[in-house]
Formats: sequence, C-alpha cells, structure tokens
Amino acid sequence: MGKGILITFEGTDGCGKTTQISLLKDYLSKRGKPATVTREPGGTSIGDIVRRILLHSGGIALNSLTETLLYEGCRAQLVRELIQPALERGETVLCDRFADSTIAYQGYGRGIEIETIKTLNRIATDGLTPTITLLFDIDPKIALQRTSLRKNSNTGGENEERFEKEGLEFHKKVRQGFKELAKEEPERIKVIDANRTPEEIHLEVLGHLKRLLSV
Ligand code: TMP
Repeated sequence: MGKGILITFEGTDGCGKTTQISLLKDYLSKRGKPATVTREPGGTSIGDIVRRILLHSGGIALNSLTETLLYEGCRAQLVRELIQPALERGETVLCDRFADSTIAYQGYGRGIEIETIKTLNRIATDGLTPTITLLFDIDPKIALQRTSLRKNSNTGGENEERFEKEGLEFHKKVRQGFKELAKEEPERIKVIDANRTPEEIHLEVLGHLKRLLSV
C-alpha cells in the first residue's frame, strides 16, 4: 500500500513518546525530509471530537466495548482521510499511538477479547500495518512521578488525571500487554528503555530509523 513509511509510537501514559516525535520531526525537517505527524485518538475533525468524548467525558459512563469501538472509529477515519493518502504520496507519517494501543489498553487493560480487537483493528486500518513501531517502555510508577513533575504543562496535567482515574494496576497490565505484542512481533516492534534522558532516547530512535529513512 503506497510508497510511504508509517512509524508508530507506543507506550503507557507518560512514557515520553510525544517528546520523541517532536525531536524526530525536527531532526527530519532539518535534513529536508519533512514528516506528517498525527495522533490517535484524533488527527481528523471527527477524531478530535471523539477524542474529547473518550478522554474528557467527565461523569459519562463509557462501557469498555463502546470505548473500544470509538477508538476504532477514530482509526478508520484517520487511516482513510489522512494516513493512506499520505502514504500514497510517498510521505513519512509519524503516528502517536495506533492499533497496538487498543490491544494493550482495551485488551490487556480492560479485558476485551484480544482476538476481537485484532479483527476490529484489521477492519479499521484496512489491513495497514506500521512499517516500524517504537515502544517506549517504562515502569508506570516512574512515569507517574515524571508526569507529576510536569503537572503544569498541558500533557502533564492530562496524564496525571488519567493515572488517578485508572490507577497503577491498570497501567501495569497495559505495559505487560505492550511487552507481549513486542514478543509476538519483534521485527516490527522495537522496545526502547524510556527511563533515560530525552537526548539518549532520541539517539536510540535514530539508530532504529537511520536505514529506513536514509538519514
Ligand atoms: P495520549 O494522547 O497522551 O497518548 O493519550 C491517549 C490516551 O488514550 C491514553 O491514555 C491511551 C488511550 N488510548 C486507548 O486507551 N486506546 C487506544 O486505542 C488509543 C489510541 C488510546
């Protein structure tokens, strides 16, 4: 499908992937290789509306299956509206979370059957698999501490809220889920120790992508 490259960034809340995406984007644009950056849930007009429902729904009770389908709905739109066309044009797409997140969060975290999510992922992505996935692995306890330190920033506050809502045990299950996925697909999913400085992590990210992106 297309000639572009899809790189996805995964990990538990507060793992630092968003910082890495912006470091990589800057690195690539300085070398004349601009990348399209997007995120899940979101990245499209409808996706941004659904993101608000998913992440800021306050007191609204959201059944786990409903939640799963809303994530998949965002994904179906993002793939068709933005990712597929960009890949067809030969662009490099950096996506902050993708299908693996639903397996880790709604599957391992909430207990929705993994095979069901894999089927939904195939439908939503139209069979599109990332060229490579970088998994930023960190103990959720450490991520929570880091997030609390960033409390005053936008994402810091949001992340801390989510930690408080879901609790540490949930995030431990999610982390385990991501690790299982990396074991299943070691060629695609590269595990990166995220308990280091952003600069150290950035160097490892480049190490994984140098050949793929010829940079
Ligand atoms: P983020 O933008 O900080 O990565 O946060 C997105 C949140 O949405 C994060 O808590 C993980 C969650 N999420 C899921 O639970 N399932 C999914 O499929 C996706 C894409 C995200």
